[in-house]
Amino acid sequence: MMKSEEIRKLFLDYFKARGHKILPSSSLIPIDDHSVLLTTAGMQQFKKYYTREKDPIKDFGTQRTATIQKCFRTTDIEEIGDETHLTFFEMLGNFSFGPVGKDDPQNFGSDGYFKRAAIYWAYEFIKNLDLEIDYVTVFGGERDVPFDEESYKIWKEVGFSEEKILKKGREDNFWGPTGDEGPCGPTTEIYVNNVEIWNLVFNEYYQDKNGNLKKLEFPGVDTGMGFERLMKVSQNVPTIFETDFFQPLKEVLDQLTNKDDIRRKRIVLDHIRGSVFLIADGLYPSNLERGYVLRRILRRLTLNLKFLDIKIEKIENMIKAVIEKYSPFYPELKNYDKIKTVIFEEIINFERTLNIGLREFEKTIKGNENDEILAEKLFLLYTSYGLPLEISKELLKDNGLGWTEKSQQVFDELFKKHQEISKGRISELAS
Ligand code: GLY
Repeated sequence: MMKSEEIRKLFLDYFKARGHKILPSSSLIPIDDHSVLLTTAGMQQFKKYYTREKDPIKDFGTQRTATIQKCFRTTDIEEIGDETHLTFFEMLGNFSFGPVGKDDPQNFGSDGYFKRAAIYWAYEFIKNLDLEIDYVTVFGGERDVPFDEESYKIWKEVGFSEEKILKKGREDNFWGPTGDEGPCGPTTEIYVNNVEIWNLVFNEYYQDKNGNLKKLEFPGVDTGMGFERLMKVSQNVPTIFETDFFQPLKEVLDQLTNKDDIRRKRIVLDHIRGSVFLIADGLYPSNLERGYVLRRILRRLTLNLKFLDIKIEKIENMIKAVIEKYSPFYPELKNYDKIKTVIFEEIINFERTLNIGLREFEKTIKGNENDEILAEKLFLLYTSYGLPLEISKELLKDNGLGWTEKSQQVFDELFKKHQEISKGRISELAS
């Protein structure tokens, strides 16, 4: 069974041999892309090379790059705890910035490539790992973007029968942009054991803030292969949480609790790893934007540690396990003391609020409230005891209770009124 460390090297060596400059992952706090809170994809640090605002030859000496990129996605934060979702993950990617030279898998030079080289290399790399592709998908055409016949033909040439090349629409096979504008395009995706492991994006368009597409001067390639998913299929384990990324951390966690609550354990595994990486990149918990993402996961971590009966001082070894696993590849993780201090301070600050909030939640929520009353009660827990709504919603879920759109609406209205009243009070005091 191949370890993730070996695959890291295989991937980078494979693309280095094919003319790619190997670059480090960029920070989780985007430097060149102000349209998103956190780095969500490998192409983000390269956006300006697709638009020619920057010159790849000048900066890299080649039109080809490859990275293993740290990513953090918050859209699925509520889903963490199931078998497949993560906040933090890594993505293996190879990139090409136009103009396209000889689009041929035998061309190991430094010029731009496109669909043929990208597809052949992805196919060969997967085969070299002894994995078998079940099927692939291509963009079938929708609205103003035509069917990607070129990719379809290349997959046939590679040896796939028509039943194994599925045509999909914009929802599935059109990627980007990150944030509200940027390069984007049709994709072809590779599935192994029914898991989508590699997304090959052909950046042919630029989408503006109004959603209009215009052709880029030169088309580019942007691929992203989820490392945890790749390891799941490569190590042939039931879920990503059994891959060697999580194994050392899981061993420590299992020693800290007798509880067998798999969902809570997965939340702890994901949130510890994610917060370590966010803090290492310079983020502090706060009530604003990306700082709030960190605050949110640390609060959720606190809640789940509590239900697993794990004392805060015990999590030191989990932080250490993450750092040990990843610091050979990410030197920014070496600052253990700072990472530990930020996590501990936030958890300790929140613990008191949580303890009181939990007690009051148990006292007030009976489970027979209608949508409005439930919203009013959670609002009161928030304003009187500081219990954040997302934690209350989690407690509802734990108790098998729902939270409807109607409840959210009532909560939002109360929140707005509350803010207006507070603002009024402040200006009264100031006058
Ligand atoms: N940029 C390709 C992906 O994130 O899948």
